[in-house]
Amino acid sequence: MDLKLTGKVALVTGARTGIGFSICEELAMNGVHLVMVARREPELILAAKKISEKYGVSVLPVAGDVTDPKLPSLVVEQAEKVFQRIDLLVNNAGRAHAGTLLTTSEEDWQIMTETKLSAMRRFCKVIIPGMQRRNWGRIVNISSIGGIYPNPQLTVSHALSAAINNLTRSLALSVAPDGILVNAIGVGAVATDNWAQNMLPNVRNRRPELVDRTDEEVMALLGKEKTPVGRFGLPEDIAAIAAFLLSGRNQFVTGQTIEASGGADRFM
Ligand SMILES: NC(=O)c1ccc[n+]([C@@H]2O[C@H](COP(=O)([O-])OP(=O)(O)OC[C@H]3O[C@@H](n4cnc5c(N)ncnc54)[C@H](OP(=O)(O)O)[C@@H]3O)[C@@H](O)[C@H]2O)c1
Repeated sequence: MDLKLTGKVALVTGARTGIGFSICEELAMNGVHLVMVARREPELILAAKKISEKYGVSVLPVAGDVTDPKLPSLVVEQAEKVFQRIDLLVNNAGRAHAGTLLTTSEEDWQIMTETKLSAMRRFCKVIIPGMQRRNWGRIVNISSIGGIYPNPQLTVSHALSAAINNLTRSLALSVAPDGILVNAIGVGAVATDNWAQNMLPNVRNRRPELVDRTDEEVMALLGKEKTPVGRFGLPEDIAAIAAFLLSGRNQFVTGQTIEASGGADRFM
């Protein structure tokens, strides 16, 4: 299927690794030029170079922390100098936070909220006016399956995912007349550094028999135990869905949270 994406320009947050990087690759494969945002500058530059060399698209890496309220305007200013516009926005930066309401600190709550929800709102606010002028745009917000099926072991992540799903729908309804489609992906367990670093310690705490097993072994076991399709997701699984939602072939899906979890509603 020709996704009708050639020559478009996408801004992806959290683009250095994992799901964000995979979305960048999938878009680049379809001829999309990229603005890649993440905090660690040297590694981000390497990731951008890898994509531009492999797919022959233009890539602008911009290092910054999405919790900085000034970042979205600075990124858009640089992007518009190079590309004159942004057609596609992917709000992906973030990570999971394992903990119940009682064990989540004030600081964790604030940082998680700034990283996921406030950053998403701010990037949308600075990028949507340009999309409205051109009467075309696509936005994908990366949420989690916990926004639909909350797990008390991941209270803050899942409360924010529910907020993202809600924000996605209300934003979609307000900008649909401007040719802008906005959707979320309710991501299940996807094998990335984020899962290994933020979730596996919690799984091992609760299941001491897994302490001596490698990360790969634990993820393979959980995939079999908890997922109807029998495995964890891969970043590419999410990237394929994002590419369609962001594409010119998507003309009629908006305001939705697409469940992408291999049929599972929880993983720990
Ligand atoms: N993997 C899963 O199972 C899963 C499930 C549900 C939802 N999700 C969501 O999917 C998204 C991507 O996660 P992932 O699993 O792909 O994780 P990942 O591999 O750790 O990637 C996260 C990316 O975000 C960047 N990032 C993190 N905090 C940032 C900040 N404050 N400002 C700018 N960039 C930031 C990181 O780069 P730097 O370190 O260089 O900043 C990194 O490139 C997250 O929002 C996560 O909550 C993942």
